[in-house]
Amino acid sequence: MTAALANKAGLGRAELDEAALSALQRTLATNRFLPAPPPGMHDVGDGDFRAIGAEFLGHFVRYGELRPSETVLDIGCGLGRMAIPLTQYLQAPEGAYRGVDIVASAIAWNTDAITSVYPNFTFAHLDVQNDLYNPGGKVASDAVTLPVAAESCDLVTMTSVFTHLDRAATDAYLREVRRVLRPGGRLLATLFLIDDATRAALKAADNRLKFDLDMGGPQYAADPAHPLAAVAFERDYFLGRAAAAGLVPRRPIVPGFWSGRASGVYQDLAVLQPKPGARP
Ligand SMILES: C[S@@+](CC[C@H](N)C(=O)[O-])C[C@H]1O[C@@H](n2cnc3c(N)ncnc32)[C@H](O)[C@@H]1O
Repeated sequence: MTAALANKAGLGRAELDEAALSALQRTLATNRFLPAPPPGMHDVGDGDFRAIGAEFLGHFVRYGELRPSETVLDIGCGLGRMAIPLTQYLQAPEGAYRGVDIVASAIAWNTDAITSVYPNFTFAHLDVQNDLYNPGGKVASDAVTLPVAAESCDLVTMTSVFTHLDRAATDAYLREVRRVLRPGGRLLATLFLIDDATRAALKAADNRLKFDLDMGGPQYAADPAHPLAAVAFERDYFLGRAAAAGLVPRRPIVPGFWSGRASGVYQDLAVLQPKPGARP
């Protein structure tokens, strides 16, 4: 809808932006001209690749307050599920995206399918060790340094990545996120957080993820044989580690429906920001 038509219809700027975003999401969810990775290339999670990407564009804008002229760092970017919708939202030259992941083949696919068409979208491989995704990686996950300048990012996204990190790696990534965020920047992360409400919901429902909450936290594995396949953290522990790294909640955490709670998002969704006054 044009600004003139919106004016006629009595819509304000915010309503106009919301209508345009919803329309873009609908298009992205079904547009088969957009690239999609070959099936079975790398596991980035269940569900409809395009629909989930379109859903998350909405979360980045509505919860992460992303604007078209901003810079995004996508940690654990996988196979472009988040990047492809963002190509239709971020506006070059100011709007730019960088994706990093520990799976080299995913980075190669992203570069070939996305950077070749959108040069303001770049990807880098992190040779970080992870039993599940990169067992031969040369860098320990708690010694990671992101190939990104300090205070250069407006929005850092980590969608289902803390769900594969141990405690030391979680600390290291939180420190790195704090280092690369600009003043006013945000981290949008989805993860599994345990608090009293989640505990009650998990007891009441038969859940696909069988976190053993009796094992003693603050970190829980859904599959003890593969501890990093799905990781949950005590909510207060996670927020405490984030605060130690200089990151505090910008808005209340949105509880996800993974635990059986009523919600529009699957994993819990947290938006953190640099602690006012604190320097990295
Ligand atoms: C469940 S997938 C999610 C992928 C992507 N964020 C998405 O939502 O489409 C988890 C991703 O995290 C990546 N990953 C795992 N450990 C990582 C680490 N230490 N650093 C960066 N990425 C990591 C995996 O390679 C994988 O691509």
